[in-house]
Amino acid sequence: MKIYKTKDYDEMSRKAAHIIASQVILNPDCVLGLATGSTPVGTYKNLIKWYEEGDLDFSQITSCNLDEYRGLSGDNDQSYRYFMNHNLFDSVNIRKECTFVPDGLNEDSDAACREYEEIIRRAGGIDLQLLGLGHNGHIGFNEPAEDFPKTTHCVDLTESTIQANKRFFENEADVPRQAYTMGIGTIMSAKKILVVVSGADKAEILNEVINGPVTPKVPASILQLHPDVTIVADEAALSKV
Ligand code: GLP
Repeated sequence: MKIYKTKDYDEMSRKAAHIIASQVILNPDCVLGLATGSTPVGTYKNLIKWYEEGDLDFSQITSCNLDEYRGLSGDNDQSYRYFMNHNLFDSVNIRKECTFVPDGLNEDSDAACREYEEIIRRAGGIDLQLLGLGHNGHIGFNEPAEDFPKTTHCVDLTESTIQANKRFFENEADVPRQAYTMGIGTIMSAKKILVVVSGADKAEILNEVINGPVTPKVPASILQLHPDVTIVADEAALSKV
């Protein structure tokens, strides 16, 4: 694992954006695995800025997002599709038909998950996967479990995730209880992985991810076994490592 320590959130965002930008410049038709949550927002802002300045071209890029709430349509402002449109896709020249997010409205979860794996396979696999980190060590929506789920699947969100994500909803009852997420196997199949982490509230779990045992109880700990992982985290997040 390569670990870059940055002064603060802004520097973390710039550094992460540089890594994604270099991927886009070197491989203009690459497949980016993208993430939601508050942490990558600054990274996306930098990518938009560099696109506006003429330094980046997303016209041949394909993107596959990690996860989506089950039951939310892309028009719902809490859906991850909406988040991606709003925070990145609407502001750069990526072709919308080349941006993929699991289909939250497909009630047939087996079909939804199977189709998503097929989309990733047809795209040729993920070249660079961006990840945030949940407070309980989740990546995508792979919650702490007894084993590592291999492929895209439907998950019941844990109470801690519902609590962490309720800030985005009008009230807690509106937070969906289930989501479709890439599996740990899907994520580990990406050629490169970039993890962004910010803030003292992630310090404990980030230390477990980096230095603790590899266990499905801390899903992100599996990243220790991936050959090309870069963690970009600020001082606060790395304060217990
Ligand atoms: C959600 C997302 C994750 C994300 C996590 C952390 O649960 N499914 O992909 O990494 O939140 O979010 P934040 O960056 O807001 O702390």
